[in-house]
Amino acid sequence: MSTEYQEGFDVVFPEADDFIPMNGTDYVEFYVGNAKQAAHFYQSAMGFQPLAYAGLETGVKDRTSYVLMQDKIRLVLTAPLTKDSPINEHLRRHGDGVKVVAIWVDDATQAYEETTKRGARSYMKPSKEEDKNGHVVRSGIHTYGDTVHIFVERSEYKGLFLPGYEAWNPDYKPESVGLKYIDHMVGNVGWNEMNTWAEFYARTMGFCNLVTFDDKDISTNFTALMSKVMSNGNGRIKFPINEPAEGLKKSQIEEYLDFYDGAGVQHMALATDDIIDTVVKLKARGIEFLYVPGNYYDTVGDRVGNIPEDIAVLKEHGILVDRDDEGYLLQIFTRPVEDRPTLFYEIIQRKGAQSFGKGNFKALFEAIEAEQAKRGTL
Ligand code: FE2
Repeated sequence: MSTEYQEGFDVVFPEADDFIPMNGTDYVEFYVGNAKQAAHFYQSAMGFQPLAYAGLETGVKDRTSYVLMQDKIRLVLTAPLTKDSPINEHLRRHGDGVKVVAIWVDDATQAYEETTKRGARSYMKPSKEEDKNGHVVRSGIHTYGDTVHIFVERSEYKGLFLPGYEAWNPDYKPESVGLKYIDHMVGNVGWNEMNTWAEFYARTMGFCNLVTFDDKDISTNFTALMSKVMSNGNGRIKFPINEPAEGLKKSQIEEYLDFYDGAGVQHMALATDDIIDTVVKLKARGIEFLYVPGNYYDTVGDRVGNIPEDIAVLKEHGILVDRDDEGYLLQIFTRPVEDRPTLFYEIIQRKGAQSFGKGNFKALFEAIEAEQAKRGTL
């Protein structure tokens, strides 16, 4: 990262400026060792539906990509087919992980020009891709670590996903688990880099700083982290940025940075309208969630007041609750879904609350530390 971005803990960006109109997350692309098997996991365990495919059968020689969707969420799982593919180096360093967080924009050329003239590093110049269903324009910039943003302009495209992909329509189609859209997408960055990257999003994309959590908010007796939530003006894109903070033992962010070999996407929060139903289905399909100490629920009524959900049912499933001025939210976190303790998922149901579960951090991090201790990385 260059040093042209201003440093300093107190840097704040109160107002968003949507000089790049953004409509939401377009897709998230993972680089994985075996896309076929990863796709099966997202179908059978996470309830995603098959959408599109690119690979040898469609004329692509060096990689295979499976595209899955669940309501508004689109995931692309890409694996290299040849030893010379640059994807191999990504896998060697990071293991399976998120390479692309694609943003749906009105104008990908304008998004590229606005971001690069403000200092973003180019990943992909605006390029028009077309097939019989029309055309898209895509462009891209680098963000933290080896992660990139691709801007997708698709108003003139009527195909399933992108040019070059064909329908993927296997007989095997397990049901959805009720996941609706990406609520937020969190990046872990290195020591003292949170402000650099918060400012990156403010400067290059006009994002504002919705909320900041310092190490007093997010610490246990042992470990700590800091976080700034960056958002575009219409709130459809929210990127919290975490950095480790000093504690008596190793922060979970540091553990991530060690195993991912640098900055990267830590978790994706997926929204549901019925978290209990979604969690029951995910558990039945083998998804493992963090264990929440039973005593967490002893004080939940004091913190959030009366809610229609049965606390005993929330406790049975380890679902966390938090309240803010506007309402409350329910959330739960999976264990890492890779061999390395890196990427995990959050399932979230918002009932008015627009915050991120600050009141749960302590209980949550104690749960994460218990797992770190088992891995010998605390
Ligand atoms: Fe989250």
